[in-house]
Amino acid sequence: MTEPRLRELAVADLAALAALEEAGQVQPWPAERFEAVLVSAQHAVLGLEDATGLIGHAVLARQPFDAELEAILVSPARRGEGLASRLLAAVISRACEWGAERLLLEVRAGNAPAIALYRRAGLEEDGRRRGYYPPLAGARREDALLMSRPLTEG
Ligand SMILES: CC(C)(COP(=O)(O)OP(=O)(O)OC[C@H]1O[C@@H](n2cnc3c(N)ncnc32)[C@H](O)[C@@H]1OP(=O)(O)O)[C@@H](O)C(=O)NCCC(=O)NCCS
Repeated sequence: MTEPRLRELAVADLAALAALEEAGQVQPWPAERFEAVLVSAQHAVLGLEDATGLIGHAVLARQPFDAELEAILVSPARRGEGLASRLLAAVISRACEWGAERLLLEVRAGNAPAIALYRRAGLEEDGRRRGYYPPLAGARREDALLMSRPLTEG
């Protein structure tokens, strides 16, 4: 199998992006939300693809001093191969190129794989928003963990 290729996604990738999200996210972003970030000068949308097509993506937003990871997802069939770590490393490089001082994100307190991924990349918990996320599958509302890491060391 060839090594997945990382590249910046564009509006032409919208259908593939929406399909990947639909297949891999419990509460998928609507296509309109992807379209908005794909055309935005304040966002970078990075994708990983192999011969089968798009297998992962990450959405990074540029803020005045910081950068925020708004989404990251890997195809369910390709999880556990280090692909999200690769996407996250590319996200951190891009945020450094922008001159961002910190990488920020919010994550469901129950999303253990994502929290482990972020901790492994040097992000730490700054706080918690109680009941921030709507319930998944009839469960109660869920807290958001606020996580960040400084980017000054590159
Ligand atoms: C979270 C997600 C992106 C991880 O993708 P992945 O490609 O499987 O992650 P990686 O293989 O790069 O794993 C990197 C690290 O994350 C952690 N991790 C990943 N999956 C894990 C799991 N199922 N359980 C525990 N830790 C996990 C580990 O620390 C791992 O490092 P290790 O392999 O050295 O132990 C993937 O599970 C996903 O797409 N989930 C749905 C979307 C989502 O929840 N996104 C985040 C919130 S928007």
